[in-house]
Amino acid sequence: MADSFDVIVIGGGPGGYNCAIRLGQLGLSTACIDKRGSFGGTCLNIGCIPSKALLHASEMYEEAKTHFPKMGITTGALGVDLPTMMAHKDKVVGELTKGVEFLLKKAKSEAIVGEAKIIAPGKVSVKTKDGTRELTTKHIVIATGSDVAPLPGVPVDEKTIVSSTGALALPTVPKRLLVVGGGVIGLELGSVWRRLGAQVTVVEFLDRIIPGTDLEVAKTFQRILEKQGIAFKLGMKVTGVAKGKTGLIASVEPAKGGAAEKIEADVILVAIGRRPFTDNLGLDEVGVKRDQRGRVVTDDHYQTNVKGIWAIGDVREGAMLAHKAEDEAVACAERIAGKAGHVNYDAIPSVIYTYPEVAGVGKSEEDLKAAGIAYKVGKFPFTANARAKANLTTDGFVKILADAKTDRVLGVHMIGPDVGNMIGEASLGLEFSAAAEDIARTCHAHPTLTEALRQAAMAVDGWTMQM
Ligand code: FAD
Ligand code: NAI
Repeated sequence: MADSFDVIVIGGGPGGYNCAIRLGQLGLSTACIDKRGSFGGTCLNIGCIPSKALLHASEMYEEAKTHFPKMGITTGALGVDLPTMMAHKDKVVGELTKGVEFLLKKAKSEAIVGEAKIIAPGKVSVKTKDGTRELTTKHIVIATGSDVAPLPGVPVDEKTIVSSTGALALPTVPKRLLVVGGGVIGLELGSVWRRLGAQVTVVEFLDRIIPGTDLEVAKTFQRILEKQGIAFKLGMKVTGVAKGKTGLIASVEPAKGGAAEKIEADVILVAIGRRPFTDNLGLDEVGVKRDQRGRVVTDDHYQTNVKGIWAIGDVREGAMLAHKAEDEAVACAERIAGKAGHVNYDAIPSVIYTYPEVAGVGKSEEDLKAAGIAYKVGKFPFTANARAKANLTTDGFVKILADAKTDRVLGVHMIGPDVGNMIGEASLGLEFSAAAEDIARTCHAHPTLTEALRQAAMAVDGWTMQM
């Protein structure tokens, strides 16, 4: 066990572990410290991976119930064995977190389990189960991620009032689930429990769901989720919760003020966003600047105001996404090693893994209007895509926004089957500054869902062929 390293990375999530791995590849000695007890951060332990395991399992259940009979597949009575579904999720998480430890080892990074505190530039102390270790280093990377944003008056106990963490481990299917927040977590986990049998109501502060996403996509998404049975209360906020005789009673008020109403629920999921996590890290003592929202402030190359201290991932500005943290990790490691790493923030995709999926990259129509950029729109519905028809998954459409003069693709927005995988092609297009015509003239295999993207690109210039 060394006490001195070229770089100490605090946090073992997608930001931290990828940074340590890249630094190792570049020949620098590193330690990666995480207090959780298993590596992989929020993403692998209580975020992306367990939520996707439950989303997939519950989607298979719904598919078997709704689509199998239509396709001539008969089954016995279908049921949900929740403990086995949860065990499946836990197994996936266990295997992947162990995989991260293996990758760190391969990169010759010392994986330390313990809580780290920055004592001074170049000095970190770590509280481990065997005592405190004092470590010295040339560089420190803060990759401490984020935590659930609390909602005043609705205290999370992870039993009946849960954050995403509790919602990923409910022991039984709640009869009535009230979701506070119509964002990504609320709609993904709301979908899981709706499919497994809960009545789900989503209370959203704004007059729309999934803020930041292209509005036409968001409206279509809401309509489809309503058809699936999720109820929405938009422009409303939950102000408090009390225990009733038959469950929890939430007070719900119009966001702009007005008379309150009561909603009864068995479980309440608080999903109103996440906050950067820097508790007990010693940032005030060493003078690392944070902004009003508590995010660590860095320059464009992830360097904080204190020389030798860097920050990446959810703890700094930008989308709180695993792949954004991962890209910053690589760029930051390369900067530390004296190379020219950078991240193209215009080409970071976002995906909501419900059915249908929602995916987007680049500018939305609202962004382009606000910036006064003239654009052309090409759209194609999945009802006209042969593969979607064959699969009985025709909800949604693909929309491409291209510069009116140059035809350069500025944004791609999709709602539909498997669009989380399809968005990769659009990101690549943006990264290479593709014109809509480039996508339209690229041969796409038939019959695939990806043809919908090609047809939307053709539609930008009005020569869609499959409708
Ligand atoms: P984190 O993953 O939060 O890791 C930070 C780590 O730092 C933690 O493990 C913590 O224990 C450790 N730490 C903090 N302080 C200290 C300290 N002082 N000492 C030692 N260790 C410390 N993103 C996607 O892109 N796709 C998804 O599908 C997706 N699904 C999600 C689902 C849920 C339910 C949630 C909650 C999030 C989801 N996210 C998803 C977001 C994603 O998890 C985060 O963007 C990502 O994990 C951020 O990575 P990070 O490395 O910055 O931080
Ligand atoms: P979010 O920011 O996506 O959504 C929060 C929602 O709550 C917003 O619509 C907001 O208007 C609403 N809200 C805020 N205060 C409210 C109040 N008092 N009452 C009612 N509504 C209120 O945050 P969420 O869903 O908690 O997710 C946190 C982060 O995790 C996101 O930044 C997201 O990027 C990440 N994540 C990503 C996933 C993915 O990529 N598939 C999946 C899950 C999470």
